[in-house]
Amino acid sequence: MAPLLMIAASATLFIPLLAYCLLALWDLAKSRKWAHIPGPSVVAPLGYVGLGSQPHLRAAQYCAKYGPVCRLRLGREHAVAVTDPVLVAGVLGAGADGLHDKFEDLYAAWPFLGAKKTAFLSSGANPDWRFMRGKLQHPFSISNMRQAYPGIVGCTKQLVDFVEGAAEGQELEMDVLFRQYSLSVMLRVFFNTGIDVDKYKGELSRHMTRAVGDMKWPASGVPGPDSSDSFAWLTDFFHFMAQLTQSKAVAPGEESRQLWAALASVKGMDVDALQAHIGFLLVAGHDSVAAAIGWSLYCLATHPNWQVKVARELQAARIGEKWDAEALEYSDVMGLRVLYKVVLEAMRLYPANPTGTLRKLNQDRQVGKHLLPKGTALWVPTYAVHRSAANWDAPAAFDPARWDAENASEGRRGGKRYIPFGSGPRACLGQALAMAEVQTALAALLAKSAFRLAPGMSSNGDEVATFRGTLGFQGGLRMVAGRRGDKA
Ligand code: HEM
Repeated sequence: MAPLLMIAASATLFIPLLAYCLLALWDLAKSRKWAHIPGPSVVAPLGYVGLGSQPHLRAAQYCAKYGPVCRLRLGREHAVAVTDPVLVAGVLGAGADGLHDKFEDLYAAWPFLGAKKTAFLSSGANPDWRFMRGKLQHPFSISNMRQAYPGIVGCTKQLVDFVEGAAEGQELEMDVLFRQYSLSVMLRVFFNTGIDVDKYKGELSRHMTRAVGDMKWPASGVPGPDSSDSFAWLTDFFHFMAQLTQSKAVAPGEESRQLWAALASVKGMDVDALQAHIGFLLVAGHDSVAAAIGWSLYCLATHPNWQVKVARELQAARIGEKWDAEALEYSDVMGLRVLYKVVLEAMRLYPANPTGTLRKLNQDRQVGKHLLPKGTALWVPTYAVHRSAANWDAPAAFDPARWDAENASEGRRGGKRYIPFGSGPRACLGQALAMAEVQTALAALLAKSAFRLAPGMSSNGDEVATFRGTLGFQGGLRMVAGRRGDKA
């Protein structure tokens, strides 16, 4: 009996050990392809050098240490990170040439997207993606933003009224308000399927924040222990939206104004595909917009001289008066130069999507000094690009004046050093909507109120910033608003 037990015990130990050694050998053999590129030492699979819970920070540290082209690990993948602006422009600008595609695994595993799991928009450079991008670009166009602007202002009014209605000195959870605001704009103005937005927005926003924040990056697709109920809730909600969309008739011209109508008018779009697209679009435009508004307001609260400059610009442009007269127009807000520079600078320091984006090489390709083999994952880590001392003077300083320089978004030798929305054929499709939401919310809020951080909130943004799918605020963005002109 005893020898049998010993054999069983050693087999229990031996088999996993053997599997580990084989995996380690396979991993080491695979990693030899990129061994000539500088990067942290290669460690075997179960203990590989990961990027931890704040991958944007770790990536920035490694890129500063190993240079503008370096080898890093992203979960099971080996990736080559690129932070040099000229190379970044080459990596993001290409795609249509067939040299590389979007790296599909990045979002493929979002489970709440339903049976299809991935939307065309998150897939590689295939004809479906090209077709869908073409279909959706009309509702996201600037001309549609002008047309839809009264709806955006209507959602902003709810936000402004809430802040104005707060008791003096009351702490407000601004990040929560901004997330609900971005959802309201999408559901009321661009996905107007008739659902009761006020009934759902709080719960939907809460579940999205939990589910996205709890997923590993790059997405593992495995719900974290605390968020499986959120995954289930979102799956049901996106399915419900898909059914609603499918049941509605599309009126002539509606597909170039409404996202649901653009999706519903695609031939062969079944309920599963609709669910994946609706889920993808709502997630893409939720926390990203809230983070951009939140970080802009945070930077203004911690740099009161800039808050005063913005307030003066708003006064000169009579934004408050136009707001009261319900006569605010898209061009009034989009022409606010000081506010725009503040938003640009806040998105440089605290990009909503700090981990950036990935492409996969379809063939061997020279990137800088290195010949990279087909299949290499090329990673453009946005936070590292935006915070690189090789790319920017005083990269950690909040200085909206740097945007006065012509071509400020280019590196010293050209290229792209400013990429909050990505760049090239796969750049953010929703950026006109995002900027309209961000600038309208800030202009209306700041025309009426002055903002300061709530007691206990650190004025060091780098201490507060935390990665949870997007770059959010540790403990939330707590602020106090005062009437403009009062001491806030
Ligand atoms: C401040 C807010 C936002 C930021 C910072 C942001 C950022 C980004 C980034 C970095 C990408 C990837 C680009 C690449 O791979 O090169 C992206 C893609 C995308 N974004 Fe946004 N985004 C924002 C708001 C929105 C909104 C409001 C929507 C729409 C609801 C949206 C829809 C999309 C879509 C559909 C894509 C995929 C485009 C494609 O692959 O062709 N985004 N966004």
